[in-house]
Amino acid sequence: MSTKPRIVLGIESSCDETAVALVASDRTILAQQVASQVAEHAPYGGVVPEIAARAHAEKLAPMLGSVMREAGLTLADCDAIAATAGPGLIGGVMVGLVTAKALAMASDTPLMAINHLEGHALSPRLADPALEFPYLLLLVSGGHCQILLVEGVGDYRRLATTIDDALGEAFDKSAKILGLGYPGGPALERLAKQGDPQAVPLPRPLAGSSEPHFSFAGLKSAVLRAKESGRHADADIAASFQQAAIDCLTDRLEHALDRIDPPPHLVVAGGVAANQSVRTALEGLASRRAMGFTAPPMALCTDNAAMIAWAGCERLPLGQFDRLDVAARPRWPLDPAAEPARGAGVKA
Ligand code: KG4
Ligand code: ZN
Repeated sequence: MSTKPRIVLGIESSCDETAVALVASDRTILAQQVASQVAEHAPYGGVVPEIAARAHAEKLAPMLGSVMREAGLTLADCDAIAATAGPGLIGGVMVGLVTAKALAMASDTPLMAINHLEGHALSPRLADPALEFPYLLLLVSGGHCQILLVEGVGDYRRLATTIDDALGEAFDKSAKILGLGYPGGPALERLAKQGDPQAVPLPRPLAGSSEPHFSFAGLKSAVLRAKESGRHADADIAASFQQAAIDCLTDRLEHALDRIDPPPHLVVAGGVAANQSVRTALEGLASRRAMGFTAPPMALCTDNAAMIAWAGCERLPLGQFDRLDVAARPRWPLDPAAEPARGAGVKA
């Protein structure tokens, strides 16, 4: 007897991408759209929260209509409506969550308030049916840099976090120093391809440390000094920055792996997972340690709504729904029991 796949509508609006998707529990992405706000924020060199919230409010309703039409479905076909409820820029999160609440109420469909980080954490399972729990996740995005042991849906143990900047943030700030504009990560990766990764001596903060955590602020400052010295080509600075960042990632992962037995499957997710050199380095690390490695397709790495709908699909069998008065949360750690990292600012 075959059971009919269940369908979840996903909404993402926590940063500068407005996204809507319909995903079935058999891992079919029935329809999805992502509207980037790059043009709106580019003149300011970064995301302006108020502009982001307004853009989400303008784009979301028409996108919902067009995604439903593309899939040939109505809300009556959906088993749940899943929206990002945090962490993120609160104005944008509220636009998405309130829209989801209104749709849920009007159509009498259950609501799910999804943690954006849980969306990233489970996204590799949307693309790869063979990926089972537990796995070791490197979550690298614009707002976070964490190593997590993913034991199951809703069961995340944070092993490491950044004590200052997130990795995506370090890419973006370094790109800005090099005059590459916004968004910086992909532009820096392109420039790095033309440079020599050994040309500029840059620090690897916390590499070799007995603490588990990451730090990128000193690396970014060193990029600024290298640029201001006028002694290096921009492409060499970009390539050397990217190599230093990758060395930090692999060093911290080695530190975590030395304390886990048996070796877990290694997974990377989040916007920086779209970086080809990062993927290649992690693949190398996994193969040296005889571990499996999974990186989701590029489109699932950067912010999207398919991962939010998929997190909803994962929660359906657990019956984890939320009430219509659930609050949007600007901060929302995946592992609430994790101790703050020493010296960490608000991002821990
Ligand atoms: O996951 P994401 O789309 O949004 C957040 O939840 O933060 O991640 C965005 C971050 C940005 O900092 C962006 O510069 C970075 O991911 N990023 C990249 C690349 N593509 C996106 N960083 C390095 N190389 C890339 N190819
Ligand atoms: Zn994200």
